Amino acid sequence: MKGSKTQTVFFCKNCGYESSKWMGQCPACHEWNTFTEEPVVKTGSKTVGSGKREHGNAKPVYIHEIDACEKDRLSTGFDELDRVLGGGIVEGSMVLVGGEPGIGKSTLLLQLSGNLAASGRKVIYISGEESLRQIKLRADRIRKIEGELTFLSETDVDTIVKVLEERKPDVAIIDSIQTMYTEEAGTAPGSITQVRESASRLMVEAKTADIAVFLVGHVTKEGTVAGPRVLEHMVDTVLYFEGSGDMGYRIIRSVKNRFGSTNEIGVFEMGEEGLREVVNPSELMLEGRPEDACGAAVACLMEGTRPILMEVQALVTESSFGMPRRQASGIDYNRVNLLLAVLEKRGGFMMSRCDAYVNITGGMRVTEPATDLAVVMAIISSFKNRAIPSDTIIFGEVGLSGEVRAVSHGDMRVREAVKLGFKRVMLPMANMSKLGKTEGIELIPVRSVSEAASKL
Ligand code: TYD
Ligand code: MG
Repeated sequence: MKGSKTQTVFFCKNCGYESSKWMGQCPACHEWNTFTEEPVVKTGSKTVGSGKREHGNAKPVYIHEIDACEKDRLSTGFDELDRVLGGGIVEGSMVLVGGEPGIGKSTLLLQLSGNLAASGRKVIYISGEESLRQIKLRADRIRKIEGELTFLSETDVDTIVKVLEERKPDVAIIDSIQTMYTEEAGTAPGSITQVRESASRLMVEAKTADIAVFLVGHVTKEGTVAGPRVLEHMVDTVLYFEGSGDMGYRIIRSVKNRFGSTNEIGVFEMGEEGLREVVNPSELMLEGRPEDACGAAVACLMEGTRPILMEVQALVTESSFGMPRRQASGIDYNRVNLLLAVLEKRGGFMMSRCDAYVNITGGMRVTEPATDLAVVMAIISSFKNRAIPSDTIIFGEVGLSGEVRAVSHGDMRVREAVKLGFKRVMLPMANMSKLGKTEGIELIPVRSVSEAASKL
């Protein structure tokens, strides 16, 4: 009989995949045990907020008919954040800021609101997590708030939309989307249906009223709260906050951006007065580096358009068991094994009898092959017990034949080394022809791993 039973659907908590029956593994994101049951929502996101649409009168246009003047971008007051956003906040865009609880999302957005208000913009900060008093306590730590910045403690999306319609701010902050609810969805806050429905209501409002909206989304390791993953395809830009509490700094990375590159990162430091920009991350990464230590090499990797120097450490000791131990932190374990095999076969180093530990200092994670040569040199340095001069940086990709291959942006890496007072650069021979004029630095081009080893 129709209507005798409430209809339900199953959602994957991780990616939002929808299914009529429960499944153990999500066919979309392959996560296990992520399905939850939720009642069916009658009002789909298409009708919410925008009312009934008339059908059959859409008209396609030619590309030259489209008004494409780049909308004005608002500066966040942080160069680091502006760069990650692709040059500032785009009017009417929706940005999702994800990250673990306690990493500093609310702090950053409060600071951003303060900066925007100080530059004459109208901002509204809506919190569903904290009372106004708690917000004030945080605000007092950070800076004097002046200008058109107002606060609201609210979780009802319909009320929030009404407030936005009345006040028409330039920027609105929603902290966090998991606490928001709309009655129409009919489920508990934090459920997939609620998160999706609330976000789509705010989205309609953002687009029609040209309000830039920042949504905060918590990600938990257990995935107990509806992850912001389900929102990723809805919003224009997705930023992720990385870095754990024990590291002093935080990295903001864009994983999706309709208005800019997704390779950029912004580096911040959490201090007594909120987040501070780290203008020169290389300096931070290399802080406290021991002079002329065996097994240490400085690598240069590119994060988007920016070179960052960091230290690679290796410890190679004779293995006391038949099976050598290998460990890698901050770098792919298999890549380290591969490089050790190359050293064994092409460089003539008896690595199979040695334990090897490789570590990237500062808690960074590197994936770029351009760090290969620095890893190899750090291993050789520890193996031979001979230090690499501490004024040297090393970059280059290592191939399976032991060849050192060219990497991109050689000139930018060299320039970063010059800027930080390094005196020598070991780089792939193939990069030499593309290098512009370099002054004040000695270049050591190498073709192979064994040639590089002989320079030590
Ligand atoms: P918060 O922004 O509330 O994190 P999130 O919104 O991502 O959950 O704050 C994160 C941490 O930062 C919190 O443990 C306190 C700390 N903190 C400082 O160290 N200095 C400061 O000035 C502020 C405001 C917070
Ligand atoms: Mg918060």
